[in-house]
Amino acid sequence: MNEGTKTAIITGASKGIGKAISLKFAANNNINVVLASRDNTQLQQVQKEIEDSKGKSIIIPTDVTKEEEVKHLVQETIDQFGKIDILVNNAGVGRFKRADEFTLDDYYYLFDVNVLGVFLVTKYVVPHMVARESGQIINIASIAGKNGFKTGTLYAASKHAVVGYTWSLREDLKEHKIKVSVVCPGSVVTGFGGKQPDRVEWSMEPEDVAHACYYLISESENVNTAEIIIKPRYNPRNIDWNMRT
Ligand SMILES: NC(=O)c1ccc[n+]([C@@H]2O[C@H](COP(=O)([O-])OP(=O)(O)OC[C@H]3O[C@@H](n4cnc5c(N)ncnc54)[C@H](OP(=O)(O)O)[C@@H]3O)[C@@H](O)[C@H]2O)c1
Repeated sequence: MNEGTKTAIITGASKGIGKAISLKFAANNNINVVLASRDNTQLQQVQKEIEDSKGKSIIIPTDVTKEEEVKHLVQETIDQFGKIDILVNNAGVGRFKRADEFTLDDYYYLFDVNVLGVFLVTKYVVPHMVARESGQIINIASIAGKNGFKTGTLYAASKHAVVGYTWSLREDLKEHKIKVSVVCPGSVVTGFGGKQPDRVEWSMEPEDVAHACYYLISESENVNTAEIIIKPRYNPRNIDWNMRT
């Protein structure tokens, strides 16, 4: 193994923002990308795109809410590459309703993927990073982790949890020289929440978030940007919706 080659686990790599991050990282041919989510067919499609651009990746199908699958993801990555340099906790889901219309099932769905998933993958990756006194963790939260919005009670609560988790994780890990950051994008054009992508003039693209993540893994060893909030540059109708603007 080339010592200069890094290994990056990306959860939720099968589509949307996670796919864009995977393609962006793999375009740097010193990064082996580990594609982790549930949909093996979609992951194979992402892997093919990476191969077409001469990048390197492996697929480890993983449900981030299942502890045994997360353990397997981490162990298999170590077995194949010997180390984990970068973890991007990107897998996430959305459901949007008025507060009283949410069910307990909605609650567990949102918190299992968005919060438990981040906790589990981080829990099993961190010991490998601490042992090497090296590594970087990027959590994809949302602008909903900073603000509230109509129909967003449970989603915003789960993403505020990710922001709080990340700022505390940073304190746990800085004595071990491990970088920790949270990225909070506004609305991005993906199929998120089961919707058809709704592209408008001021939309942000998954590649915009991937670019911010690439910045984080490229910055100087002296610093570690704690949080990036990404909002659109342009709002022609000055729409008063803090999720986009
Ligand atoms: N789109 C937006 O407007 C927006 C804005 C701010 C933040 N975000 C955040 O960005 C992240 C990615 O969202 P997206 O817009 O790219 O959504 P997306 O296109 O729906 O992709 C979600 C990804 O999460 C994966 N996933 C869902 N449940 C999973 C599970 N149990 N285990 C493993 N992977 C799972 C999906 O893969 P499989 O189906 O293959 O498992 C998929 O790859 C999420 O955390 C989301 O909250 C999105």
